[in-house]
Amino acid sequence: MTVEKWVTTVPAITLVEGELLGVVALGHALVLIRHEGRLYAFPDQCPHRGAPFSTAGRLSGGLLLCGWHNWTFHLDTGCQTHLDSVCLEAVPIRERDGHLEVFVKET
Ligand code: FES
Repeated sequence: MTVEKWVTTVPAITLVEGELLGVVALGHALVLIRHEGRLYAFPDQCPHRGAPFSTAGRLSGGLLLCGWHNWTFHLDTGCQTHLDSVCLEAVPIRERDGHLEVFVKET
């Protein structure tokens, strides 16, 4: 049986507006993003060839760009800008008691 639960990651102050932060929660490598005050979390792996967004990517406006081959993804939908059938699965994220929590499956 798979269990999902909120897991505390890093102090909220660690996630700077406009930067990408890689974390591991219950074995899931995630990239955390704060953009225009909103929080986002996605798997830290580009679906094209597996580049880690947290080290190979960057933000541009409301887009997450992969630095390896320039695939870009809308933060709000997680979908690739040219192939909207390719989407990142957004991971629920929230700020609680000064820390960032993500909702992930226990493995
Ligand atoms: S690995 Fe991300 S665009 Fe190719």
